[in-house]
Amino acid sequence: MLEKANEYIRQNYIDEKEKPLFHVTPETGWMNDPNGFIYFKGLYHLFYQYYPYAREWGPMHWGHQVTEDLLKWEAYPVAMAPDQDYDHIGCFSGSAVEADGKHVLLYTGVSQKDGKEIQNQCIAIGDGKTYEKWQDNPVIKGDIMPEKFDRKDFRDPKIWKKNGRYYCVVGNRYEENCGQIVLFSSADYKNWRYEKVLLRNDGKNGDMLECPDYLEVDGYPVIICSPQNMHAQKYEFHNGHNSIYIIGDAEKEISDFAWEKKRNLDYGLDFYAPQTTLLPDGRRVMIAWMKSWDARVMTKGQKWQGMMTLPRELKIKDGKIWQSPVRELEKYKKNPTIYTEQKISGQMSLDGINGRVIDMTVEPTNVEGREFKVDVAHNEEYTTTFTYYPEKHQIEIDRTYSGVNADVVCVRKIEIAEKHHAPKLHFIMDRYSVELFINDGEQTASVVIPTPLEANEIIFTSDEAATVNIEKYEITFN
Ligand code: FRU
Repeated sequence: MLEKANEYIRQNYIDEKEKPLFHVTPETGWMNDPNGFIYFKGLYHLFYQYYPYAREWGPMHWGHQVTEDLLKWEAYPVAMAPDQDYDHIGCFSGSAVEADGKHVLLYTGVSQKDGKEIQNQCIAIGDGKTYEKWQDNPVIKGDIMPEKFDRKDFRDPKIWKKNGRYYCVVGNRYEENCGQIVLFSSADYKNWRYEKVLLRNDGKNGDMLECPDYLEVDGYPVIICSPQNMHAQKYEFHNGHNSIYIIGDAEKEISDFAWEKKRNLDYGLDFYAPQTTLLPDGRRVMIAWMKSWDARVMTKGQKWQGMMTLPRELKIKDGKIWQSPVRELEKYKKNPTIYTEQKISGQMSLDGINGRVIDMTVEPTNVEGREFKVDVAHNEEYTTTFTYYPEKHQIEIDRTYSGVNADVVCVRKIEIAEKHHAPKLHFIMDRYSVELFINDGEQTASVVIPTPLEANEIIFTSDEAATVNIEKYEITFN
């Protein structure tokens, strides 16, 4: 099955120009969640939920790419296929750890027994390129958990090692419609014991907590997870699948997580199932699937579906997670175009400010009037608009005219956390996406746009007068 997938990829090679430059995309077909994001033996490895044969979700394989700098990725052979009786329905999401010099993948094997689907945790051991599933899989079966803990919705293990012991958190369902995150531990990553529930839904946070992550940032324990089927709560959470985080108390037991402290990880339209890893230099970096389960947003003729966000560095400040693009991006920023105290009145374009693979910061120093707009990926037919409303302290994203050809959500309103000044807007565009970092990453918004590449203008609009500083770079590997 693995060889069949690799052969299919060789036969159906997609030209790099049809894809983003520095965002991870599937070699062919479909990609969802990031899996097994880790530094191992000199390379950063990223695996992902992968179905090579169609642009739709199918029996899950693990795709695999590597990089030296988190931006230039190289495809490796597919790491796992659903080829065992304990994972024949799919090799679902999971994570990786280095153990005794080996590369260990911990994932969810989905199978069927007596007509019922079950999910268990399994391992595969490898050298960084090829992996062998463990003969005694599964290593964590649902029945080691207390009763009423669901055996079907039991997936997405995230593993880490601390003080010589392995731990993992797994998403689970408790009774009907109640998501929870359960903790396990092990001396050797093969024999696991159930520890406890780390977080259980209070009924307001969706009905299953997918892709949990447990991490430490700047001395604080943090839980990240992706609740399914949430209801919108003002500007903080939107309908459907969200990704949230909760910061615990420094130096306290890891179970001290309070739902009241939950926050949104990204305020855009396309962001789900993030996973973090600790780099050897101490940075905590997160990458997410830049897509929504409910939206199909592709250019005409696009041969692949699904991509990852930029890897983002995390830090904690004022009780919140702040995100910034990995600093490795700096070395690929070329050809600056800079405007200082540029007056904007009415609708304007500026010489040299355009493009679809760019890093652009727009910092208003003064905004009069009721709105200030930045239109990107723009031409006569297409546009994606970011509007700042000073009186409401809001930013509105609108991709209605970006070329979307289905009835999917196109508008999102963001309440800006910092209300004392106009927001600094840092846009990173890579052909079919825009990632916005607001006020140095206090908030972010990720958006996929299916706009043809010839729409590459950028337009600024102010209904009265605005003054802005603009700094734009091309991003190129040349
Ligand atoms: C999240 C998810 C995971 C699961 C995987 C299947 O997007 O539903 O819970 O493991 O996708 O592809």
